[in-house]
Amino acid sequence: MSDAPKTSPKAQVVFALRHCRRAITLLAMVWALLVVLPTVATAQEIDNSADVATGRALYMTHCATCHGLEAEGNGPMAPVLLVQPKSLAALSVENGGIFPLKRVVARIDGRDPLVSHGSAMPVYGEVFQGDDRAMKTETGQPMLAGGPIVDLVAYLRSIQQ
Ligand code: HEC
Repeated sequence: MSDAPKTSPKAQVVFALRHCRRAITLLAMVWALLVVLPTVATAQEIDNSADVATGRALYMTHCATCHGLEAEGNGPMAPVLLVQPKSLAALSVENGGIFPLKRVVARIDGRDPLVSHGSAMPVYGEVFQGDDRAMKTETGQPMLAGGPIVDLVAYLRSIQQ
């Protein structure tokens, strides 16, 4: 049953307007959910101050010998290693399409205990420390890392297959 008032035309206009306002509020909320919120989430995910070019230069100096110029795991040092370096361009693909930021940062700066237990992968925590910046991990938690690592990770992100 309709709750529309059966009174004067004026009252009917007021009624219509009130409903209109409700519809506009609803539209605004839907718009906020669909447009604004995802933008905020993406902005938080990637550290805006990350510099891909600096990250690439760091990669070429410190990582390419083992992981390769194209980060496919086939650097010139790979043949002499017992454990083969990983392809760093396939990190997202191997993780169901999501860049495993937390694991990657932990491996590079050495807070992942795996590194200190016999892997050929060097620890770069001291080399890349300083200028700490926050990043969002794939689960949305903030994670602090040295500035150079933030740049390096931005580069690795940019080359995912
Ligand atoms: C001396 C050779 C060597 C160098 C240099 C090296 N790595 Fe590695 N890296 C490895 C090896 C071997 C593995 C695979 C074994 C393991 O996971 O510990 C690995 C694994 C990794 C992983 C783990 C991948 C995963 O799936 O979790 C990351 C991330 C990584 N390296 C990043 C880097 C970055 C960034 C640099 C440069 C700052 C670098 N590596 C330099 C040898 C190296």
